[in-house]
Amino acid sequence: MSRGSLVLDPFLGVGTTLLTCRELGINSVGFDVSPLFVFISEVKLRDYDVDELRRVRDEIFSIKFEKPEVKVSGFLRNLYPKPVLEDLFFFKGLISKISDEEVRDFFTLALMVAAEKSSYMMRDGAVIKIVKNKPRIPSLRKAYRIMVNRMIDDVEKLPLTDASVKAMVGDARRMESVETESVDAVITSPPYLNKIEYTRCYWPEYEIFFPHISHTGIRSYLSMRPDDVELSMLGGDAPLVAELYFEDMEKVCGEVYRVLKPGGAAVMVVGGGVFPDKVIQVDVAVAEIAERCGLNVERIVAVNKRVAAVDRVRKIGESRESIIYLRK
Ligand SMILES: C[S@@+](CC[C@H](N)C(=O)[O-])C[C@H]1O[C@@H](n2cnc3c(N)ncnc32)[C@H](O)[C@@H]1O
Repeated sequence: MSRGSLVLDPFLGVGTTLLTCRELGINSVGFDVSPLFVFISEVKLRDYDVDELRRVRDEIFSIKFEKPEVKVSGFLRNLYPKPVLEDLFFFKGLISKISDEEVRDFFTLALMVAAEKSSYMMRDGAVIKIVKNKPRIPSLRKAYRIMVNRMIDDVEKLPLTDASVKAMVGDARRMESVETESVDAVITSPPYLNKIEYTRCYWPEYEIFFPHISHTGIRSYLSMRPDDVELSMLGGDAPLVAELYFEDMEKVCGEVYRVLKPGGAAVMVVGGGVFPDKVIQVDVAVAEIAERCGLNVERIVAVNKRVAAVDRVRKIGESRESIIYLRK
């Protein structure tokens, strides 16, 4: 991969692939169905004036606390100690007055991460657990200051190149905005095969920071369909979920084939699907699908293996995470 090449990540998550490309001088583009993840990626991928960030930080932390109006649902009140919620809305009010949108986003992301650290929340897969006796919950002011400083340090220490980068809300199964045969390499990690739409557990962030965006399940999430979405959420028929997942991966592989230049490479990290009665080996299945779409499978490398057991005792197989190397 050389400077000027174009990398695509169809499932960008928090933007790791795109950020690495930008550091290396490689142009990149990525999609995610979750507006929250696209927001996080965008904030990480931008250029900032560090002196301006420090100036805004000093201003924010010099303003004396004033009790804000806290208008939130009962559910949300359960997630944070009362003083944290008050601090959260106080800082949110200050941030809303920052005129530069990119600087505003930077301080919003820092507040979002700090708020989780100062909450009773523990995210476990797709669920939020409320742990009222969490040891040492930091005050939000303290957690926020630490997070802002850490992010400013990151901006300073990781100088980015002028390579182009674009993170967009979009669906990996339909990447119409990417031209045919325009991409040198695809580097990605699709959602793992299971019944879970992980982005659902980010509803507190949506409710506090993006109240205008719906935070119900995302139906364009891989393997979710309008009609079966409830069934899959409730842990219905595992083979149906797997079938839908592979149907979706076929669309994704078809798109990967279309956008890659001849000779272009694709690398995908996938994980085994663990169901109550069996483990579905996703690496082999996705490699077969990719071949059907015209891609050549060069290698499958297992990078992590673990025993899959039901109720921690009955072994049902081995689940592995693998990297699939493909070429057009
Ligand atoms: C395993 S994560 C990617 C992790 C990423 N490599 C990172 O470093 O954060 C999978 C991502 O795929 C997204 N996703 C799920 N269905 C999608 C779809 N149909 N199109 C695009 N993105 C999707 C999820 O929102 C999630 O962020």
